[in-house]
Amino acid sequence: MNLFIFTAAALLICTGFAFSAKQCEDCGNTSVPYPLSTGPTCGDQSYKIRCDAGTLLFDTVNNTYAITSINPSTQRLVIKPATLISNATCVASDIIHQGVQLNSSLPFNVTSSNTILYFNCTDNLLLSPLNCTSTSLCHVYANESSGTVAPCKDARLCCTFRTGGSSTAYMIRVRESGCSAYTSFVNLDPNLPVDRWPQPGLEIQWQSPRNQ
Ligand SMILES: *[C@@H]1O[C@H](CO)[C@@H](O)[C@H](O)[C@H]1NC(C)=O
Ligand SMILES: *[C@@H]1O[C@H](CO)[C@@H](O)[C@H](O)[C@H]1NC(C)=O
Ligand SMILES: *[C@@H]1O[C@H](CO)[C@@H](O)[C@H](O)[C@H]1NC(C)=O
Ligand SMILES: *[C@@H]1O[C@H](CO)[C@@H](O)[C@H](O)[C@H]1NC(C)=O
Ligand SMILES: *[C@@H]1O[C@H](CO)[C@@H](O)[C@H](O)[C@H]1NC(C)=O
Ligand SMILES: *[C@@H]1O[C@H](CO)[C@@H](O)[C@H](O)[C@H]1NC(C)=O
Ligand SMILES: *[C@@H]1O[C@H](CO)[C@@H](O)[C@H](O)[C@H]1NC(C)=O
Repeated sequence: MNLFIFTAAALLICTGFAFSAKQCEDCGNTSVPYPLSTGPTCGDQSYKIRCDAGTLLFDTVNNTYAITSINPSTQRLVIKPATLISNATCVASDIIHQGVQLNSSLPFNVTSSNTILYFNCTDNLLLSPLNCTSTSLCHVYANESSGTVAPCKDARLCCTFRTGGSSTAYMIRVRESGCSAYTSFVNLDPNLPVDRWPQPGLEIQWQSPRNQ
């Protein structure tokens, strides 16, 4: 009897452990590598993402972005940056959330591989270390991009920078007193013509689970 209870308890502990450490099911055609978690019974609960009708979603503080790719070996994923509010205004649709704001208590941060193009910036940006010169890459993109940021071509200042500093580890800030729109490219080679640039994306990294 005692042995039975012991065995049952041991079994429960073991399966309980295996359960919490298991990889989540694919989301549509996309595999969900551990520790990312799309539900309470798989992955690690510190690494929550969502699977909605076959699309993976990444929740930020008050907003949600589609995940366009995941690389388990580098522990990185790419989200799709917000588009403009309309095709007539150089304002990002996530300006009400102040752009991309990650929760700094969670094990995700913005990698240093992103080239951010900011558009429709105020003169305040001239005091920043960002490149807001007339030859800055943001002008090249605004001039050439077939439509995606067309309303930004003649909007106030535009500025370019590469992520990596502590100020961008958890956010790409968008606001009226700064810049009203943005886009981002992962591992961008600035020498390529715009029509050979990759799709816009913002790369985010996850830290290894502590107890592994
Ligand atoms: C998933 O893959 C199958 C087979 O390759 C394909 O037919 C289907 O369109 C894909 N579904 C999605 C949502 O990409
Ligand atoms: C950030 O994440 C922590 C840990 O999950 C949570 O307790 C907190 O409420 C989150 N904060 C915000 C602003 O979402
Ligand atoms: C630039 O941003 C301001 C403030 O968000 C907005 O009112 C204005 O319409 C934007 N400019 C353009 C050209 O869209
Ligand atoms: C998120 O929403 C809460 C409640 O509306 C608000 O107080 C907070 O400032 C928002 N944070 C961001 C980063 O948008
Ligand atoms: C700004 O970017 C342009 C294009 O990449 C570059 O030629 C220029 O030297 C940069 N200026 C500054 C001040 O960094
Ligand atoms: C963008 O276009 C404007 C006006 O058409 C032009 O003056 C400027 O030199 C162009 N800038 C770049 C970086 O291509
Ligand atoms: C993101 O977090 C990792 C792991 O803690 C750290 O090595 C890296 O420097 C951070 N990246 C940035 C841009 O702060």
